[in-house]
Amino acid sequence: MSYVVTISGSPAARSRSTHLLGEAEALLHARGIATRRIDPRALPAEALLHADFAHPAIREALELVEHAQAIVIATPVYKVAYSGLLKTFLDLLPQTGLTGKLVLPIATGGSLAHLLALDYSLKPVIASLGARHVLANVFATDVEIASEQGGYDTSAVVTERLTQSIDQLSRVWADQVELREHRERRQRDEARSLDATSHSLNEVALNDATFASTRPVAVGGGAHRSVVQAPVPSRCPD
Ligand SMILES: Cc1cc2nc3c(=O)[nH]c(=O)nc-3n(C[C@H](O)[C@H](O)[C@H](O)COP(=O)(O)O)c2cc1C
Repeated sequence: MSYVVTISGSPAARSRSTHLLGEAEALLHARGIATRRIDPRALPAEALLHADFAHPAIREALELVEHAQAIVIATPVYKVAYSGLLKTFLDLLPQTGLTGKLVLPIATGGSLAHLLALDYSLKPVIASLGARHVLANVFATDVEIASEQGGYDTSAVVTERLTQSIDQLSRVWADQVELREHRERRQRDEARSLDATSHSLNEVALNDATFASTRPVAVGGGAHRSVVQAPVPSRCPD
């Protein structure tokens, strides 16, 4: 099954970047795209920090990433970079962990001053892990995601930016799905035509063998021409 993995990089239980990630998930669902969330904050801390690849929760999270077609990563800006929690999780991925995948980074920060933080901190990491297509970051400041009654209220401008990015992701996603289906169809057709060819060759071989078993075969030529009986095939033709 095709799905997008969403990763929430904030260590905070109540988090603006995770709120934006939730909105991104809702937009994806509205476009018929399934998502699976990885919340590194909820992974067993010791297993995460000790890179315990054998731990079932870590293994499950890594397998989710491995089989995803696209990844949406949300993180707060911490000390002009992405969060340390996100880094501990990304460090567990194999060097080719994002190969061929489509990635959309999302970040929230205290001010616009660090708007470019993800460009020089997260993007090189994503690229080094082999991502095929990295969409432009969606960045929002804290004032654009106002705290409201225990939740958050995202400004219309940010919602619009997020929607545009999710639309872009959906378009690339649809192209990828079409390409994959085309490849699978071609592979199935090739396999079918190989089957048909080998079936015909088998029939020709059987007919030849039948013919050879009932008629003498001439070997050599001229004065040395001799006649031998060809071996009878072990199986009779149908
Ligand atoms: C430890 C720490 C470091 C931060 N460093 C920055 C920073 O360098 N630049 C910035 O714009 N905001 C910084 N902030 C503010 C957060 O990025 C901002 O509040 C963000 O929306 C928090 O996201 P969250 O609610 O998902 O955790 C920092 C906040 C904390 C707690």
